[in-house]
Amino acid sequence: MKKFYVTSPIFYPNAQPHMGHAYTALLCDVLKRYHASLGEESYFLTGTDEHTEKVVQAARALRQEPAAYLETIVERFKDLYAKLDIDYDQFIRTSDKDVHWPGAIKMWNTLLESDDLYKAEYVGLYCVGCEAFKTEKELIDGVCKDHGIAPEKVVEENWFFRLKKYAPQVEKLIESGELLIVPESRKKEILSFLRSGVEDVSFSRPKEKMTWGIPVPNDPNQTMYIWVDALTNYITGLGFGRDEKLMDFWPGIHILGKDILRFHTIFWPAMLLSAKLPLPKKIMIHGTIISDGKKMSKSIGNVISPYELVDRYGKDATRYLLLRHVHPFEDTDITWGKLDEWYTAGLVNGLGNLASRILKMSETYEVALPDNVHERATEILDFGFEFQKAMDSIWARIQQLDETIQREEPFKKIKTDKETAEGIIQGLVGGLKNISDSLAPFMPETSRTIIDAIYKNKKPENLFPRLP
Ligand code: ME8
Ligand code: MG
Repeated sequence: MKKFYVTSPIFYPNAQPHMGHAYTALLCDVLKRYHASLGEESYFLTGTDEHTEKVVQAARALRQEPAAYLETIVERFKDLYAKLDIDYDQFIRTSDKDVHWPGAIKMWNTLLESDDLYKAEYVGLYCVGCEAFKTEKELIDGVCKDHGIAPEKVVEENWFFRLKKYAPQVEKLIESGELLIVPESRKKEILSFLRSGVEDVSFSRPKEKMTWGIPVPNDPNQTMYIWVDALTNYITGLGFGRDEKLMDFWPGIHILGKDILRFHTIFWPAMLLSAKLPLPKKIMIHGTIISDGKKMSKSIGNVISPYELVDRYGKDATRYLLLRHVHPFEDTDITWGKLDEWYTAGLVNGLGNLASRILKMSETYEVALPDNVHERATEILDFGFEFQKAMDSIWARIQQLDETIQREEPFKKIKTDKETAEGIIQGLVGGLKNISDSLAPFMPETSRTIIDAIYKNKKPENLFPRLP
């Protein structure tokens, strides 16, 4: 059976899950549902990236141990997924010593055997905010542009990975499309970065500086830095380094935001080349959600939480808003005003109104029902990763059916020309059934509700109530 494997990043659980997390996970969920509907064996991996100093700090602020703190916050992620019908197959946690550590250790040892790890003195500028070393070039007036703080100068022994050695090969693979980066603009961006020159990269830190993490197997005074620890999750989730029976899902598709583009398109492929493992099939870099023209931030006060969205609009409506109105590749600005408009136009006056009119007619007049066979949804494949266009094409069909009702007025015609009117209604019911089939990966509950209503010959509850 054909296999399909999709991953989201593993998210930092140092705060509540936010809109961006919900968005990426939702895209993965839709792709997984879609490929499953094509009869492919489909697997979706998500999880949390737990070995970060910020987790230690967040736990300390609540006077908790990291483990206890993490239990609670991981439940919040799972709860959000449940609220949005995000149907993952596995939730991996990098602090999981049984599931994740053996593979991370195997990856480390494999890189070491390939002679791609070496120990050297590192002199760097470390930004505590980013939890990353910065180059002079990346600073503005000596401070980190994201955190506004001057990084600490650090001199220490580290293990380094020979990224430079692999950079030309990675560049070729990206150029040729063998390692596919979607969209094209991100491919260009990463190619120009590669051409500007790449240095070897630090892959560990001294244990006293990084207490929370996986010890370097050949040097327990060092702790693995996030590259091996976090990126390797995409295969440790499939059993790499322990029970490798899911490994035939690899390679898969990674979906992520532009903030972690370089790590996924350069570091990770280079690690895989060194380990002689297949490269990812595709890497999709989606757009960023902003609010009121700015990155959502607690201090600006423009954060819209995914929980609030579900509370206001409901599960499938939230999925609709994110899938149809957040551009898959560009930044999208959301505000409550826009969300309300989109909800009312597309769902209250669009799908909801159409479904209720057609179901009312099919309940009132006896018409033959369409075959209860699931129609294959072709939209996502037709439109590549452009979820928004796939949705637009479904909404174009909704509009067509609306126009048919307006033009033909079957509820009037039924009095004068019963046969023709019933034929029209039958066509409308069939059209609604097709639309619901196409909607299944995007809005699974709505799709099911409408299809059930068609075959039970009754009107569903108000699908999308008007906003108060
Ligand atoms: O970077 N709009 O975790 P993270 C859209 N642990 N998507 C957004 C977003 C926004 N405004 N903000 C975040 C990490 N995202 C690492 C990853 S992977 C081996 C390690 C999404 O919690 C988007 O997918 O900071 C982005 O790449 C990810 O969340 C970053 O999540
Ligand atoms: Mg981040």
